[in-house]
Amino acid sequence: MCRKVELAKQGLGFLVANGGIGKEDAQMAEPERPQLSPYQVELEAGKRYAWCRCGRSKKQPFCDGSHAGTGIEPLMFTAERNELALVCGCKDTGDPPYCDGSHMLL
Ligand code: FES
Repeated sequence: MCRKVELAKQGLGFLVANGGIGKEDAQMAEPERPQLSPYQVELEAGKRYAWCRCGRSKKQPFCDGSHAGTGIEPLMFTAERNELALVCGCKDTGDPPYCDGSHMLL
């Protein structure tokens, strides 16, 4: 079986460029969904946060470094004001890192 078909069957993303498969491309994973609702978190004005996009962090909704090897990086953002925010837990929001209600369509 060709390598591309094997990767596709394993659910691993791949791209064909110049007739080859890049190592990084083969390692791109799908995000996990730690919960199908938002996390309510206190954000502090001017503080920088790393929103977990891979869904593997044990410190949801923030990054703990568990994305290593997934090809998915956290989203860095700075809170504009002190607020109680709804931060996406399903990893499918169209307005990251905030919940936009997309979890209701999953
Ligand atoms: S929790 Fe992801 S859009 Fe609401």
